[in-house]
Amino acid sequence: MTISSHTFCVAPMMDWTDRHCRLFHRGLTRHALLYTEMVTAEAILHGKRAQLLGFDPAEHPVALQLGGSDPAKLASAARIGADFGYGEINLNVGCPSDRVQEGRFGACLMAEPELVADCVAAMRAATSVPVSVKCRIGIDDQDAEADFQRFIETVASTGCTTFIVHARKAWLNGLSPKENREIPRLDYGRVYRLKTARPDLTIVLNGGIMDLDQCAEHLRHVDGVMLGRGAYHEPYILADVDRRFFGAADPAVTRRVALERMFLHIERQIANGGRLNNITRHVLGL
Ligand SMILES: Cc1cc2nc3c(=O)[nH]c(=O)nc-3n(C[C@H](O)[C@H](O)[C@H](O)COP(=O)(O)O)c2cc1C
Repeated sequence: MTISSHTFCVAPMMDWTDRHCRLFHRGLTRHALLYTEMVTAEAILHGKRAQLLGFDPAEHPVALQLGGSDPAKLASAARIGADFGYGEINLNVGCPSDRVQEGRFGACLMAEPELVADCVAAMRAATSVPVSVKCRIGIDDQDAEADFQRFIETVASTGCTTFIVHARKAWLNGLSPKENREIPRLDYGRVYRLKTARPDLTIVLNGGIMDLDQCAEHLRHVDGVMLGRGAYHEPYILADVDRRFFGAADPAVTRRVALERMFLHIERQIANGGRLNNITRHVLGL
């Protein structure tokens, strides 16, 4: 296993991986790469930017996930995100919710590799920070291995080298987003084969990973792992990540210290009118 910036990542999760959650996770692991919730390009261009994008530099390394399918808007949003200090900009090609499909982004873009390539090319041209893509292994009836390969080849031809793959297809009609994270079968083999076919790409595996032993097994086949629900519900597994996967020598932080690391942040947020439970809701799994 080679250590890379993507060896261990915490997934983008709407309403969950906000700045408070990320700071809490950072108190448990110095090296895991953290992702924001998805923010649409449209919101960044027209909404309250400081509120949408503001974060604590202590969260680094942290990547911003964007949603959208308009290359020019995504390029502008990527530039703004990079100016805010995010170290990577990620495009969401995996989210299956109806709201997202109406806006023609998320998982439905798996059916339009050329459009995704145009988006990624525009984002790459607009900023010097790396641009990555988070996708599925297929959607609806476009779920053959050849469809997936064509998607990756087309997007990789823009120069994008990092792909995070949620190893199950998405059913856009009939399944809720929650069901789409549980019902379609996981197919890790397809992601492993992608890495074998394209050893030059950085391939991060996501979906259904619950503990660090499972991570270690996947890391024999791919460059990185990304945990969503497993890390959110059981955050203390993050305390072993630095020693296990990044060669750190210091002992794992205790639960008490991880909580104490949040105190200053909590005091500052409350002083600025923030609510305690917006922060503490993320630590309940501790
Ligand atoms: C509450 C919740 C919100 C999510 N929001 C996003 C999102 O904003 N962007 C995204 O790409 N995926 C999102 N996902 C999907 C996760 O990033 C991840 O791909 C999925 O949960 C599978 O990984 P897991 O089995 O480790 O949880 C979300 C998942 C959950 C549970």
